[in-house]
Amino acid sequence: MSHAARPCAIHPSILSADFMRLEAELQAISTADAVHVDVMDNHFVPNLTLGLPIVQGVQRVSPIPLDVHLMIADPDRWAPAYAEAGAASVTFHAEAAAAPIKLARTLRELGSKSAMALRPATPVEPFLDLLPELDMLLLMTVEPGFGGQAFLEVVVPKIRRARAAIDAAGGTVALQVDGGVTTQTIRMAADAGADTFVAGSSVYGAEDVAAAIEGLRHAAR
Ligand code: DX5
Ligand code: ZN
Repeated sequence: MSHAARPCAIHPSILSADFMRLEAELQAISTADAVHVDVMDNHFVPNLTLGLPIVQGVQRVSPIPLDVHLMIADPDRWAPAYAEAGAASVTFHAEAAAAPIKLARTLRELGSKSAMALRPATPVEPFLDLLPELDMLLLMTVEPGFGGQAFLEVVVPKIRRARAAIDAAGGTVALQVDGGVTTQTIRMAADAGADTFVAGSSVYGAEDVAAAIEGLRHAAR
């Protein structure tokens, strides 16, 4: 599919939101396609954010579906509960999963989309046979752990190779990028074949959050 015809989804990350006003911060992004929820365990990544009880609360009040990104050790054990909580999609890290095929199937059985993430330095090639098990592949464009980092251009060739593999396999897997996505960098990722864009600081750091979402959509086209 040509880049102009490809759908484009914007997923603001609440990592950069004001956690004390979370419900209002969720309402502010109601024009986005989904809310990206970063779960970090201070083990897989050197930071700690939020866990299942907060995600359940977000699920209750969010006007848009939840895209849960688990940056945690042992997702085999912990990820299914996020699907049970009603998340539209649950992303585990390939580097952390012991049995990624089993986990992807479990997530789907529980009614969620199954998604797998790769850190910037993890090659995509060893995982291409897993594409039929996945609804989304997330290529990190920063080292996971913190918002506000700069987009790693070194990942762009991997986005291009993943897009070619997805198209060759039939083209139903969403290709998400996460980290450093701004109106400046989104074009690079879109041109390489990404179709789903996570943006934390460039959305919540903006004066007008809804305008920032529209600006990203426009810049991706
Ligand atoms: C980083 C998180 C990202 C983060 C992106 O580990 O996975 O989702 O919120 O933030 P920005 O868009 O500021 O790079
Ligand atoms: Zn994320």
